[in-house]
Amino acid sequence: MAKKTIDDIQVAGKRVLVRCDFNVPMQDGKITSDKRIVAALPTIKKLIADGGKVILCSHLGKPKNGPEAKFSLAPVAERLSDYLNKPVVFADDDNVVGEHAKAAVAAMKDGDVVLLQNTRFRKEETKNVEEFSKELASLADCYVDDAFGSCHRAHCSTEGVTKFLSPCVAGYLIGKELSIMGKALEDPARPFVAVLGGAKVSDKIGVINNLLEKVDTLIIGGGMSYTFQVALGGHVGKSLLEQDKVELAKELMEKAKAKKVKLLLPVDNEAGDDFSNDCMRITVHSKEIPENFEGMDIGPKTQVIFANEVVNAGTVVWNGPMGVFEFDNFAVGTRAIAKAMAECQGVTIIGGGDSAAAIEQMGFADKVTHVSTGGGASLEFLEGKTLPGVACLDEK
Ligand code: 3PG
Repeated sequence: MAKKTIDDIQVAGKRVLVRCDFNVPMQDGKITSDKRIVAALPTIKKLIADGGKVILCSHLGKPKNGPEAKFSLAPVAERLSDYLNKPVVFADDDNVVGEHAKAAVAAMKDGDVVLLQNTRFRKEETKNVEEFSKELASLADCYVDDAFGSCHRAHCSTEGVTKFLSPCVAGYLIGKELSIMGKALEDPARPFVAVLGGAKVSDKIGVINNLLEKVDTLIIGGGMSYTFQVALGGHVGKSLLEQDKVELAKELMEKAKAKKVKLLLPVDNEAGDDFSNDCMRITVHSKEIPENFEGMDIGPKTQVIFANEVVNAGTVVWNGPMGVFEFDNFAVGTRAIAKAMAECQGVTIIGGGDSAAAIEQMGFADKVTHVSTGGGASLEFLEGKTLPGVACLDEK
């Protein structure tokens, strides 16, 4: 059912609590990718233009022991202020809703922007404790959720707070993510091809199961492909293997057959004698990886086969790298998929996480239809799960 958005409410003169996903990668106190900040700008600018008092909040990282300077959102406030070309007041309260936050909000004029401190500085946040939700709600008159990357979390700032504010609506980023990925799942241009990679079958069981109901072709590469090769009687040497998922891999292949889904696995791999960029490299048949070698990328024949499916797709969803792309020598297969995505004339969607990082690093991000800002969230969406941060928003 369709959710209300910021286009359905009036915010002039109102205090609007906006949950964003400013969980950006940081190194030595510096933001290394501000993609998520940029993605939040359309919603923030709209609320400013409409005369709302914009109170932003987010988590950053996984602070285990309460407030820690390295998880402060201060650098995000600075970056936002550069992009918005106006001051963003940073309410530096270790308890998030403290004296600074209250004073900053009380002093706001229409169109002003305040950023609260990392919501995970409060241990109640991830436990969705009512008291902290009420505190957050006490700062505002209404709520906007634009944190797509966090909407698979039922936390105070993504879910609990909606019980104490009205209206609660979606921002533009959530709207965009859900409509592009929703259309791909429900009404895709065909052929619909899914490319799944990454280390573990166990992480992707839900996605594979759901996508087998929808796609024409399912391509499996990356670390999890070795478990499928073993299920087919192959030998994978020292490659990643989930022995306890071999039976499941067989079942998934049976399901693909029953659903008439073309399931493609690598036919050749690049293998190394050691987990490093400079190890000895050989190209091998995927079912005959020598004992002292581990598969670290898809091989040249596989690259051609996979890329051909991707280029000719009506819709492609890609989640998970084809190999150890952090090592240059084993990034070739992942790059081949990224390039094929860029060349495909159909709808091309990158489902966040490592594959989003890969396509950006390889320079193809602006040549695909959509790069999701959610890793876990887009995975859960592709699994067909309900996202609590979306479910709690007002219906149209
Ligand atoms: C993400 O980076 O996937 C989101 O910001 C959610 O972060 P989390 O996994 O720490 O909840």
